[in-house]
Amino acid sequence: MAMRHQQRTRVVAAGRPHEPNSPVNHPVDFTSTYSYRPSVQYSQAYAREGIPSFEPLEQLLAELEGGTHGLLFSSGQSAISAMISQLPLGGHLIMPQHAYQGFSSMATQMAGKGMFALHRVDIAATDQVLATVRHAATEAESAGTSALLWIESPTNPMLEVADLPVLIAEAKRLGVRTAVDNTFATPLRQNPLQYGADVVIHSVTKFLSGHSDVIMGAAVTSDEELYATLHGHRSMHGTIPGPMEVFLALRGVRTLAVRLDAAERNAGYLASRLSELVNNDSIPLTGVSYPGLPDHPQFERAASQLTGFGAIITMVTSNQTIADAVLEHMKVWTPATSLGGVESLAERRRRHLSEPPTVPEGLIRLSVGIEDPEDLYADLLGALSGAA
Ligand SMILES: Cc1ncc(COP(=O)(O)O)c(C=O)c1O
Repeated sequence: MAMRHQQRTRVVAAGRPHEPNSPVNHPVDFTSTYSYRPSVQYSQAYAREGIPSFEPLEQLLAELEGGTHGLLFSSGQSAISAMISQLPLGGHLIMPQHAYQGFSSMATQMAGKGMFALHRVDIAATDQVLATVRHAATEAESAGTSALLWIESPTNPMLEVADLPVLIAEAKRLGVRTAVDNTFATPLRQNPLQYGADVVIHSVTKFLSGHSDVIMGAAVTSDEELYATLHGHRSMHGTIPGPMEVFLALRGVRTLAVRLDAAERNAGYLASRLSELVNNDSIPLTGVSYPGLPDHPQFERAASQLTGFGAIITMVTSNQTIADAVLEHMKVWTPATSLGGVESLAERRRRHLSEPPTVPEGLIRLSVGIEDPEDLYADLLGALSGAA
């Protein structure tokens, strides 16, 4: 009988060769094609359809999420695109108001071309989401098409937490597929497939690879038909990662448990220290959000769904000018987009024009790394004080 591993073991052990004399790490094929002889049965043909070097990481991600199949993509965006492309023409996409802005732009553009009807919801407002899902399901049924509920939780950048079990169960009852972007929580903190989600999407670029040196995405599902369709989409659209990226991501993900523990510990510490500065007259900080803070609107939900509150914090400064000045004063933190690496990054999100106006102009997203927490705090305090 196969041994069931704990997640911390799985992240290190899964996807390794076990045969005697095999290397401890799978070799990576740097090739675009595979030789064949017509007389010999072959399994590999052309690398755009996938190569054996993808399998250890695909298997690892599937095991971590509790699915049967993992599928790597060239980016998180291409994994998302593969999934929403499964909606038939004239279908319905229900998605969070504050989803990752690259995805929001993609969805808006596709909806603008008439590919599907787009419904934006406050993903934390369960009644509103359920009403929208029911409405979309009814419309889809009468038009002979289908609907997809897209959940991001916690959301980027507003850190709203969706009621995963309730939303997924109701969507399922209505025949609406659900996809969950699990980038912020990682498979070590939340496994949406366990609630019945059809697919989990990751930007592997972030916590999974963990060193800000890779762009990659992944989908995990237990639905054979969906897996085959997504695989076919990937081959046809050519959205495979390169072998070097696969090597780096697999190498990076092996340390996910220790990196995430350390970053999360730092994040919890910084969130509470920063909260103490809100309403301090000499510090231009008007708010701090972190799902692990008791004053987070979905704190109880986060505590019951997540096995850890993650490593992303947002702090709201008075306005854009102050936020930009805070970033200019940072020495330990690096002002940069992206998140989930070992190094701490900070970004004013409204610098992206596609970020909605409901995201405050002065909001800075903090991706907390694994540096010394006192250095991180001192640098934030110095930057906030210097910008005042
Ligand atoms: C939550 C989330 N999903 C998806 C993406 C897109 O991933 P990628 O940049 O790997 O295409 C991002 C990127 O920031 C993200 O934050």
